[in-house]
Amino acid sequence: MKFFIDTANLDHIKEAQDLGILDGVTTNPSLMAKEGISGKDQVLKHYKAICDIVDGDVSAEVIATDFAGMIREGEELAELDEKIVVKIPIIKDGIKALKYFSDHGIKTNCTLVFSAGQALLAAKAGATYVSPFIGRLDDISYDGIQLIEQIRLIYDNYEFETEILAASVRHPMHIINCAEVGADVMTGPLSAILALLKHPLTDSGLATFLADHEKAKNK
Ligand code: E4P
Repeated sequence: MKFFIDTANLDHIKEAQDLGILDGVTTNPSLMAKEGISGKDQVLKHYKAICDIVDGDVSAEVIATDFAGMIREGEELAELDEKIVVKIPIIKDGIKALKYFSDHGIKTNCTLVFSAGQALLAAKAGATYVSPFIGRLDDISYDGIQLIEQIRLIYDNYEFETEILAASVRHPMHIINCAEVGADVMTGPLSAILALLKHPLTDSGLATFLADHEKAKNK
């Protein structure tokens, strides 16, 4: 399973990249705003800065919601760097834009996916990635992981090449559950990735090893 980090924070991206397990980055307009990034020039510069840090795909979302606007913005983003993946919302014009970019060899990430039907349409349109938001589904008492399972089954039935990118991951169990049901990629915050490391027996075991080593040294 590929690990993407879901942030526009350059320090977090650098930290994840330094770990050596990072496969890409996803952003969205809210995450960009959180870092105080606004205005076309600043936005493009920030995406380029992210591409310069990470070895892998970088999802950059369009703001336009009409076909022509999405194509204009998407092409401009894609020109920035070959790592850019144009992120398109699952709306009617979005489907057309996914097809356009797919026909023109530009990678896409279909975002704001909350149902199997939406995921099926995204795959039919040739999306590179589909992003079901599992945390937001859990927030309203729907089962996010069950949706990943359902999409996995549908994509496998028809050998769709679209990769399932589990998004809105909030905690380590989401990551483990995504791996269990066969998500191709997960994107989550640095905190969720680092939380995978934690185990009290690792901490106490390491403390004992180091203490025993010190004791033996002083004998
Ligand atoms: C997906 O790519 C989105 O950026 C993201 O995962 C949304 O996560 P949230 O529900 O925690 O905002």
